[in-house]
Formats: sequence, C-alpha cells, structure tokens
Amino acid sequence: MTNNKRIKLGIFGFGCVGQGVYHVLNQTKGIKADIVKICVKDSKKERILDSSFFTTEPADLLDNPEIDVIVELIDDAEAAFNIVSYALKKGKAVVTANKKMIADHSEELYTLQQTYQVPLLYEAAACASIPIIRNLEEYYDNDLLTCIEGILNGSTNYILTGLTERTTTDFNTALREAQLNGFAESDPTLDIEGFDPRYKLSILILHAFGIFTNPSSLFTFGISRISTFDLEFARQRNLTIRLIARAKKENSTVTAFCMPSFIPSNHHLAAVRNEYNGVLVESLFTEIQFFAGKGAGSNPTGSAVVSDISALSYDYRYEYKKLKQKSATQLNEQSLLNLYIRFDDWSVVDMSVFETISERFSSKKNHYIIGEITLQNLRKADWIKNPAVNIIHFPKY
Ligand code: HSE
Repeated sequence: MTNNKRIKLGIFGFGCVGQGVYHVLNQTKGIKADIVKICVKDSKKERILDSSFFTTEPADLLDNPEIDVIVELIDDAEAAFNIVSYALKKGKAVVTANKKMIADHSEELYTLQQTYQVPLLYEAAACASIPIIRNLEEYYDNDLLTCIEGILNGSTNYILTGLTERTTTDFNTALREAQLNGFAESDPTLDIEGFDPRYKLSILILHAFGIFTNPSSLFTFGISRISTFDLEFARQRNLTIRLIARAKKENSTVTAFCMPSFIPSNHHLAAVRNEYNGVLVESLFTEIQFFAGKGAGSNPTGSAVVSDISALSYDYRYEYKKLKQKSATQLNEQSLLNLYIRFDDWSVVDMSVFETISERFSSKKNHYIIGEITLQNLRKADWIKNPAVNIIHFPKY
C-alpha cells in the first residue's frame, strides 16, 4: 500500500462498532480512506448511509478488485474467521475488532499473514481505545517485560463500579445499562463470566510474551457470584473489586488467569471506573507503566479501527517480535494464588487442596477462608462449580 493511494474499504457489519467506524472516519479529515461497500445481514434496514453502499453478498467485497482493505466487524467469530482468512488469501489487508476470532485462531492467522505477506491489524480487539497491542509490539520490543495485567472488559467494570460505589443497587440493572450503552456483547455472559477479557488476555500474551495460548486454557472466573457480603468485605478493608486479567512471566513461563480481584482503593486499577479499561505493564527497568482509556463503546472502538486503517497507509504490520525472541515458552500452573473463597456451607469446599489458610470466618449465612492454592489445583477443584461459592483473588500488592 503506497502513501499517496486512497484506501478502499469493504466493511463487514454495521452494528455498534461499524457505525462508530463510519462516524470516526467521517470526522478524521487526514485519513485517505473511502468506504466502497458494506456487507450486512439485512440490506433493507433504514441506515444513516445510502442503501447503495449495502449488500448482503460477501463476494461483493471479497472478490471486488477495487477494495484493498477488509474491515471485519461482525459478531459471529467463525463466520468472521472464514471472511478474514479468505481476504488474506486474496491479498487483501484486514482490520478486525473480533477478539474471539483472533484468540481462537491466533496461530492460523499468524501463518496466513506470513504465507500471503498481508497485514492483519486488530488494535480494537483488546481494550478498544487503548493502543496496547502496538505498544507491546513497538515500544516494548524486547524481552524485558515481566507482567501485564488489567481491566480488559468495559461492561463488567461498569457493573462493578455501580455496585462498589453503591450508585447501582442491583446487578441486572447495571447490566442493562451496560447493554443500552453498547458496551456489552450480544451474549452478555461472555462479559460477565470473563470470557471476553480472557480472549483479550490471550491476544496480549502473544504480543507481550510470544506464546500462542488456547483461550480456554486460561483459568477464568467471572463476576456473577459477587454478593453484597463480598462487597461489604472489600469496603471494610478499604479494597475495591475489579475483574482482572493477568499474565506474569517468571523465567520462561507465564502464569495467566482472569478473575475478580481485591484492589487497594489507592491503586491505579481502582481508579478505573465504568467502561474504562486500564492496563499495567511491568518491565525490568521501567517498573510499572499504566495505560487507561475507554474499553468499550461505538466511537472508542471505531477510533481504534480507524487508527489501524490509517496504519495500513504507511505499510504497518505486526512483526510478532516476542514470538521470534521466544520470550516465554509455556504457561505455568504451579504458581500459588492467594484467594478469598466465600461459601454457604463448610462441607462444600475441599480444604485439603490449600497450601496455607491464613483466615477463616463463619457467620449464619456466609463463611469464608483466605488461603493459597496452586492454579493447577484451583482448575481441578470441582467445588468451584457450586453457585454458592465465590472466588476473589487477594493479591499482595
Ligand atoms: N463487551 C466488551 C466490553 C466490548 O465490555 O469490554 C469491548 O470489547
């Protein structure tokens, strides 16, 4: 792609993100990109653009020689993978926001980029408006990173902010607000149960440490079981609760998981409110750096997509530098995690799997322990499936 040529775009999907891309493109005068066609499910729907832009035929974009960049913004990850792989094989550059598709197919997508020598950019897929992937690729282009952790999901952060600050009294009301604001996935279970941030974590692990991970191999626990008892526990200790995804490198292994965590009220991540995301990057010599920005919503996500389109105009592509450096080689399941486990009956939890137990509490309806357990034993523990059990990471910051 040369600097002077205008980029011709074919867009798949015109929902929340697609419309954001249209608005941002329209107002970004410096960018030399034009929308040629948009592929949607229903071309008859009333839309802000003239109907001549819309088609229901993928081939009108994928086989259109005028279009050189495919922007993939649909919901269905498998359909998206078919579109993206076809486009790459045809030599069309691709920009996508589909975190599930990238996380589930990272290795195949990497190979396609290498084989066909075409770029695939996806900054919008992790933390929307925060340029974390490009920073991991370009600024942190060495193997001195030690940890990346943060709030990678806007909807759950919106819900947790409401619940912890007592501006919302009820989980479902907060969720409905997140949905109305266009933050939540069409299946909000993906947000609430932590699957969405797990996809993002898997992508960040690739760009931070150079490991392809199957997202389902990353231990994940969501926020749906957080109760008023847990919130009160946090309040009394001057803590807040956030859904945290973390990948920490030790030697050549990475310990990674996504679960609710107690965060001291004066910590960077506690100040990340509502749909904002926050990412802490730790490296040997810089120590901690903190990125924050809107992690969901039409315009913030659209803005990251437009930034990728713009990057294509100067031939930018991910080099997957950490992969080449073999910065880390595998996931570590032996690390000890300090956890708060709350439950309703002492017979529910198998105490024998804990290496240490530092606190035990009992009341009429709620009991808890605080103790250390290996990630491997936590994953194997059947009792965590019991809906009366909640788990919150209690890191030593
Ligand atoms: N549902 C996602 C979130 C959208 O709430 O963060 C942005 O990826």
